[in-house]
Amino acid sequence: MASCVVSIVTSFLCMLLVCVCVSAQHQRAFFVFGDSLVDNGNNDFLATSARADAPPYGIDYPTHTPTGRFSNGLNIADIISEQLGLEPTMPYLSPLLTGEKLLVGANFASAGIGILNDTGFQFLNIIHIYKQLKLFEHYQQRLSARIGVEGARKHVNQGLVLITLGGNDFVNNYYLVPYSVRSRQFALPDYVRYLISEYRLILRRVFDMGARRVIVTGTGPMGCVPAELALRSRNGECDVELQRAASLYNPQLGDMIKGLNQEIGSDVFIAANAYQMHMDFVFNPQAFGFVTSRIACCGQGPYNGIGLCTPLSNLCPNRNLYAFWDPFHPSERANRIIVQQIFTGSTDYMHPMNLSTIMALDSRA
Ligand SMILES: *[C@@H]1O[C@H](CO)[C@@H](O)[C@H](O)[C@H]1NC(C)=O
Ligand SMILES: *[C@@H]1O[C@H](CO)[C@@H](O)[C@H](O)[C@H]1NC(C)=O
Repeated sequence: MASCVVSIVTSFLCMLLVCVCVSAQHQRAFFVFGDSLVDNGNNDFLATSARADAPPYGIDYPTHTPTGRFSNGLNIADIISEQLGLEPTMPYLSPLLTGEKLLVGANFASAGIGILNDTGFQFLNIIHIYKQLKLFEHYQQRLSARIGVEGARKHVNQGLVLITLGGNDFVNNYYLVPYSVRSRQFALPDYVRYLISEYRLILRRVFDMGARRVIVTGTGPMGCVPAELALRSRNGECDVELQRAASLYNPQLGDMIKGLNQEIGSDVFIAANAYQMHMDFVFNPQAFGFVTSRIACCGQGPYNGIGLCTPLSNLCPNRNLYAFWDPFHPSERANRIIVQQIFTGSTDYMHPMNLSTIMALDSRA
């Protein structure tokens, strides 16, 4: 009897504690910028060819319908929200993103965009990164109207930001066609330096707009995705030229981020080594429970890497066995492996620290 009372009291205290923690966690907003790796539906509202609004996209999403995500289910941004116990962010263009929902944050990402304004021009109407930042400004005005200028400023300061950008500046610009405008203008090392200097301006702007914790992902192994294996590889090996681009770009991105943090005097920017995160399962898919990392689950032609994933494409029965969902994008299961590293990875994966460390630090602040 007495032990029963004690256990009732303890479980009541536990519940109280859980409530306090959960409600404190719900305060943190999440803001997402970038390309198709994190777009959760903005392009569905735009007249663009870069869209994932037809089946089998979304086949493993809770609703089993396409949502604009370039995944069979959740993308990296969704899984971060889920792991933090937050509501999923809504696409900023959604008319449903109003009222209290603004406090959750917003997703400004748009498939096809890059660091450069000319990247993704072939997709017509997409939200280039400067436009995404403009919308972030607009968001802040709407939030201010709700909770006051000071409250909005604090909410943004205390928010978490994810920015995923850069791959398209290679695959959908420099290497889009032989003798592309950019490849005639720049040798690869000069192009990479130019991208990094432009990206620095963008990140500085994100900081100036109030962001104080920003996860910045580098590019994956672009030469190893099924699309590039189909287009450029002779024997199924990763394409050497795109791998060279990634190996030039990613270390310079890391250095640039270090420099920015030094300039600001605080670890605002966190470099996520997306290259290594992907490489682990690209090189050893079986160790992660995949049958292959070369063949996309959905597509056609060699490696299912030609064209887009459409209702007419080949479709694998079990998406959990494939590292790549479509010719360019990881499956939800691969996205979960990546997010696991974002949360708990060593400094080789997350520099200067991983997301669980960030959450612990910020909860004490
Ligand atoms: C890209 O566009 C934005 C705004 O439209 C502009 O501020 C920026 O300077 C442009 N970048 C380049 C490299 O032209
Ligand atoms: C990352 O997370 C793990 C556990 O969550 C922790 O033990 C480790 O020290 C962290 N590493 C860094 C560099 O923050």
